[in-house]
Amino acid sequence: MKPAKLHYWILGCFSIVSCCWCTSDQFPQSDSHPHTWKKLYLAHHWPVTVCKMSANDCQDPPEYWTIHGLWPDKGEECNRTWHFNVTEIKDLMSDMRRYWPDVIHSSLNRTQFWKHEWEKHGTCAATLPILDSQKKYFSKTLELYQLVNLNGFLLKAGIKPGSTYYQMAAIKEVLTEFYGITPKIQCLPPEEGEEAQTLGQIEFCFTKELELRNCTEPKGESSRMHTNLQHVTEELSVCNDTLPVYYPSQVKDRKWSLKSLKNFFN
Ligand SMILES: *[C@@H]1O[C@H](CO)[C@@H](O)[C@H](O)[C@H]1NC(C)=O
Ligand SMILES: *[C@@H]1O[C@H](CO)[C@@H](O)[C@H](O)[C@H]1NC(C)=O
Ligand SMILES: *[C@@H]1O[C@H](CO)[C@@H](O)[C@H](O)[C@H]1NC(C)=O
Ligand SMILES: *[C@@H]1O[C@H](CO)[C@@H](O)[C@H](O)[C@H]1NC(C)=O
Ligand SMILES: *[C@@H]1O[C@H](CO)[C@@H](O)[C@H](O)[C@H]1NC(C)=O
Repeated sequence: MKPAKLHYWILGCFSIVSCCWCTSDQFPQSDSHPHTWKKLYLAHHWPVTVCKMSANDCQDPPEYWTIHGLWPDKGEECNRTWHFNVTEIKDLMSDMRRYWPDVIHSSLNRTQFWKHEWEKHGTCAATLPILDSQKKYFSKTLELYQLVNLNGFLLKAGIKPGSTYYQMAAIKEVLTEFYGITPKIQCLPPEEGEEAQTLGQIEFCFTKELELRNCTEPKGESSRMHTNLQHVTEELSVCNDTLPVYYPSQVKDRKWSLKSLKNFFN
């Protein structure tokens, strides 16, 4: 591995730690701005790819798409005094464990991931009356996930994990045709010397009325989403339509594992 590449992955792994699965805030607070947001992203991630990226303590990642989060397109940590309280969602526990697992910390206290998602994104989503409690936020997210039923759809469409490669454009097309909107699809870019990208995350966008909508803004309207990187997982980027895509069925290699990541956690 060339130094430049290694550097890239160190940055990538570092960012997944600081940005997605831990509570440190590397981004400036947005308390001075009104937390007005326009749409919600329901992010599904593919646990096998997530494990491949983190090489942390993944154990037997589920082979179905799980929930990463429900994210307003603007704002984060909107109310720092509204602490996560797992008791409030105790009725949802079996679905939470099954559909919203902490993929990369499978042996740690699972509630940390939910706490992070609530504090960073849920407190911002809570400006909507239908999402204004922890119970509502988590149960509505589970509900939207069931409604979208991405796992069921992909199976039915014959898009299955394994060793075959898919055409990115074809996957996008079937999704768009079925859902009537275009989700945002993210991949790990091809490894050096390879041609295929790896499918990692599929985000569906919803209006404030919780109806599916395109993730992109209509033409002509400028989109300022992601300007503060609030939920970009740095190592994933929007899939390249012209490259084949690999939809992995297992953690095949640990090429990307970094000892330094373990040290970082200690
Ligand atoms: C923040 O959360 C606390 C605790 O739920 C609540 O009492 C307070 O009204 C909230 N503040 C805002 C600005 O929503
Ligand atoms: C957590 O929620 C439960 C159930 O709503 C409540 O009884 C308890 O007081 C809360 N704990 C804290 C620390 O707010
Ligand atoms: C997990 O963390 C929560 C607080 O986030 C705590 O109430 C609970 O006791 C912890 N569970 C375990 C098994 O450590
Ligand atoms: C979503 O975007 C596609 C083009 O990518 C467009 O054809 C379609 O009308 C849009 N749908 C909605 C509901 O805006
Ligand atoms: C997509 O991949 C092709 C072929 O490698 C490359 O030429 C093109 O620049 C890529 N597009 C983007 C947006 O990265």
